[in-house]
Amino acid sequence: MYCIKKITDDLTWVGANDRRLAMFEGVYSVPGGVSYNSYLLNDEKTVLFDTVDKAVHHRFLENIAAALQGKKLDYLVVQHMEPDHSTAICELLARYPEMELVCNEKTLGLMQQFYDISGAQRVRLVSEGDTLNTGKHTLQFLMAPMVHWPEVMVTYDAADKTLFSADAFGCFGALNGAIFADEVDFARDYMDEARRYYTNIVGKYGAQVEALLDKAAALDIERICPLHGFVWRKNIGNLLSKYALWSSYAPEESGVMIAYASVYGNTENAAEILACRLRDKGIRTSMYDVSVTPASDVVSEAFRWSHLVFASTTYNAGIFVTMEALISDLAAHNIQNRTVAIIENGSWAPTSGALIREKLGECRDIRFLDNTISLSSSLKTAQLEEISLMAEKIAATFPNLPKPASVQEAPAPPDEIDPMAMFKFSYGLFVLTAKDGKKDNGCIINTAAQLTDTPKRISITVNKANHTCDMILKTGEFNVSILSESVPFRVFEQFGFQSGRDVDKFEGCGYDARSANGIRYLPESANCVISGKVIDSHDYGTHILFIADVTQAFILSAEPSVTYQYYFEHIKPKPQAPKEHKEGYVCRICGYVLEGETIPDGFVCPLCKHGPEDFEKL
Ligand code: FEO
Repeated sequence: MYCIKKITDDLTWVGANDRRLAMFEGVYSVPGGVSYNSYLLNDEKTVLFDTVDKAVHHRFLENIAAALQGKKLDYLVVQHMEPDHSTAICELLARYPEMELVCNEKTLGLMQQFYDISGAQRVRLVSEGDTLNTGKHTLQFLMAPMVHWPEVMVTYDAADKTLFSADAFGCFGALNGAIFADEVDFARDYMDEARRYYTNIVGKYGAQVEALLDKAAALDIERICPLHGFVWRKNIGNLLSKYALWSSYAPEESGVMIAYASVYGNTENAAEILACRLRDKGIRTSMYDVSVTPASDVVSEAFRWSHLVFASTTYNAGIFVTMEALISDLAAHNIQNRTVAIIENGSWAPTSGALIREKLGECRDIRFLDNTISLSSSLKTAQLEEISLMAEKIAATFPNLPKPASVQEAPAPPDEIDPMAMFKFSYGLFVLTAKDGKKDNGCIINTAAQLTDTPKRISITVNKANHTCDMILKTGEFNVSILSESVPFRVFEQFGFQSGRDVDKFEGCGYDARSANGIRYLPESANCVISGKVIDSHDYGTHILFIADVTQAFILSAEPSVTYQYYFEHIKPKPQAPKEHKEGYVCRICGYVLEGETIPDGFVCPLCKHGPEDFEKL
């Protein structure tokens, strides 16, 4: 039976998953499986983007037939010829006799090498910038050589602002019912696999990935459809910035990855002691036994960390086999711009250190620490000092390391209250909604928190200037919609910068979602809704503190909750430079400008109702 997923009205995922594959491309372990994505565009003309691996051939053919709904298949766009995306080409040519292959010249050559392709009259060759109109949609083809093979191209559909990105922006892992990255906790559950996919599949080709990113920057992209992993429709900027970082070979995190190969545990012992010394200095460490951890994981971790330590025994007068494979793999993947230290071991003729240095010396911007440690079978007391010295030399290359607690001088704290200290609280942001008779209203708050677990009880603090506060005082009920990171700024304008006394904040919002208490909530831009029934309240001058029992709570999405800091860094538009210098204050929350030398007593922002503590001098 077919298994397909709708992406837009016109676009359907017709790919399939493989969870039985042990080694992708025969070399990369895929414990979470892998997806082979293919997409069918159902326009006046029908277009299929790539095919799948032979392992999932059968389901794929069923999927295409279902998505076509009886129509013929007009075009197969071959963006990437690697067999995990191309094994069904011959079968499709036979099944859909009118189907035309759309590809570039290089693809055609590879296709003829891999398969018995006849009927060149059914091939439409395209090159950089060529377009294909299918009715409502016009597809533009952009070449992306070496991301991951030389023939790779990507396709941009301006009608839906969709980029079909071939291998770029993919991820290991089968799709477990979800098709969009925002349906899962990507940062927690998939980012490591996305990094491992990037480094192992296209890590070698940083310059070529940067060229593709430059092309992508010129496009208005709302959706990315890769050949493996999830479709992206939210937080695309985060994904692009990860690719920009990885393709530049800049370390993602500051810390030391220690990879060791140890036959009898003595090399491991030295590596462990070094890790302890580094941790004592406040340096983050991760450790891998390269005889156990697959090389693709260690390569990915090497791309992640700023410093690399390799500890290897000598074997057959060379580097130990698993370490030798790792070092070759790292060099093949173009690792660069790292600080490297080496520990070698050898019972009679240690050579591994010099050989590791020689091999990695071929890579760009590798900074070797000069004190390679050479062990003779095992670490002895006399050499402990060398380990400490290596830790010190590594630490000296880390800027701004905290001093150990025992020697840190505690500066005398100032007596006064620094108003900026309040911004160090890790607040979230919420839309608080209430209902009084037929009147719905809501406002933005940043002060909602769980009080107790049994019973489930929460607190909210609301500015008395907000109409929602009056409504809760009167009705004793409310909803808290916990905003997620994809919340657009207009939600803050809608609920934060106008008063419910003057306007209907829900007018034209296009939804009427209500929880069991009849109060509205935000079905979009929020990841969770909690309903509260007030059991106590306290008046604290400008604000009312409400204590409430939770009467209902439900999750809307797996997206991370937005924090106050995230709002300032990613959502709130950056203030425009003033055309002329004005004397006054600007509200940090909404950008309102109060002109004048001082802030009057009792002043609150007319837009967002925040007080003088949230204003800063222009
Ligand atoms: Fe998934 Fe380069 O192929």
